[in-house]
Amino acid sequence: MSIRAAVLNGVATIEIARPEKKNALTAAMYLAMADALAAAAGDPAVRAVLITGQPGIFTSGNDIEDFMRRPFDGVETPPFVFMKALLECDKPVIAAVTGAAIGIGTTMLLHCDFVYVSDEARLAMPFVSLGLVPEFGASLVVPQLMGNVRAAEKLLLGEPFSGAEAVDCGIANAVLPAAEVAPHARRVAERFNTLPPGAVQESKRLLRRARRQAVLETIAVEGEIFARRLRSPEAQEAFSAFFQKRKPDFSKF
Ligand code: COA
Repeated sequence: MSIRAAVLNGVATIEIARPEKKNALTAAMYLAMADALAAAAGDPAVRAVLITGQPGIFTSGNDIEDFMRRPFDGVETPPFVFMKALLECDKPVIAAVTGAAIGIGTTMLLHCDFVYVSDEARLAMPFVSLGLVPEFGASLVVPQLMGNVRAAEKLLLGEPFSGAEAVDCGIANAVLPAAEVAPHARRVAERFNTLPPGAVQESKRLLRRARRQAVLETIAVEGEIFARRLRSPEAQEAFSAFFQKRKPDFSKF
């Protein structure tokens, strides 16, 4: 199992632990994370959730082999099950990001409440380079956060950006030295042990209320196009190129 879930001192930790594949997320890993989120939501002893990766890597995003083998074709597929659990979690979710956070590694951060990044963090949403489109509300939330012209850099060109830029554009709270990211994120999570849980959860729901419907609708529209794009010759060329460790050739399309 490449997800480690544990509860300690009021904090449910979900640790992505597949370093040999740069923490690429498989179907089983999404489902394990969804289970851990649901368990945290239902456990009164849990006051906050902490999502972490490994030193130097948060996640390289969806496992590209899974993308090739098992294109998602609906809202019941594992990435959707995970993101639904994240969107429905009323307890505060804190992310500790060191190293790369690619694809869903960045889009999941858009739905966390607190995000702490290391000074060597590298975020990226290279969906177009993979023949795909933005997912899980990114096409709505990213332009809202950073404006259209910067969103075009991140979502059309797929340009990676630093932890400092993530803070500057409102995706992350603070940049810290790598060794301090997880301890700091845990301290923030543990602060919820001293706050009234009912007020915290109702407030979190209120903070998201105005945007919630639009986010859900966007996820549905993006998901349909994404599933179609996964089967496209452009995407297949991009995936093959990744495993053959070469540049994709889109000149024939
Ligand atoms: N899916 C499947 N396997 C992945 C992966 C992914 N998303 N990301 C990395 N891996 C695998 C590599 O194939 C490699 O496997 P191998 O050792 O069997 O060859 C191993 O993990 C190490 O990756 P590598 O690319 O050699 O590490 P790196 O340090 O040079 O680069 C990344 C790290 C994260 C920058 C790079 O792996 C990467 O760009 N990954 C793909 C990111 C991506 O496009 N994700 C999908 C977004 S929608």
